[in-house]
Amino acid sequence: MKPLIIANWKMNPSTIKEAKELFDKVKNTGAIICAPFVYLSELKSDNLCAQNCYWESSGAYTGEISPNMLRDLGIAYVIIGHSERRMHFQETDEMINKKLKAALTADLKPILCIGEKKGENAKEVIEKQLKYDLDEISEKDLKKIIIAYEPVWAIGTGDFCESGRAKDALEFIKEKFNNKVLYGGSVNSKISKNYIDVGFDGLLVGGASLKADEFIEINQNV
Ligand code: PGA
Repeated sequence: MKPLIIANWKMNPSTIKEAKELFDKVKNTGAIICAPFVYLSELKSDNLCAQNCYWESSGAYTGEISPNMLRDLGIAYVIIGHSERRMHFQETDEMINKKLKAALTADLKPILCIGEKKGENAKEVIEKQLKYDLDEISEKDLKKIIIAYEPVWAIGTGDFCESGRAKDALEFIKEKFNNKVLYGGSVNSKISKNYIDVGFDGLLVGGASLKADEFIEINQNV
């Protein structure tokens, strides 16, 4: 099966015009494009992903976006629990669990990001995050969740996790949860295939997804 490649544009590009231009260059890759909320309505595609959502479906939560709003816009996927949200916006496992449940109720496909910080034990962190993030989610719904293993120290640093080491985490996750598992963290076109070769089902690509030629190559090489 073709690997699932997700471009995570983070808070980029800086204008709608640039976002549309980048999108036009990479849309034929078939990759899923994860973009800031304001760009999602401008990009016409079945392969779009939001970067976050709130857990309530409506109410007095100024500035938040509900899963239903995303669904209404035709968005198929949503990233939940990216390490940047955990780190900069104090998202806890409890909040992530609520967001996952809300996304599933709205029929979005969640991509749950997990991974250890530098110096932490990967398996311990993975075990804890999976336990709390997936708490009380039904077997049926669990099957719909995609996991992205992203060691925090490898994100945006150029210090990618060697595929052999990432494979240990992959196998640990698959023992508990036999779903699609992606690798993320400083992926580029030279190393992208290594992760697919050791068994990852796809990649979550941040920085390199902003360079059209590089991103196209990543897609071609896997
Ligand atoms: P990166 O980002 O590829 O720039 O390390 C990965 C991510 O979006 O989590």
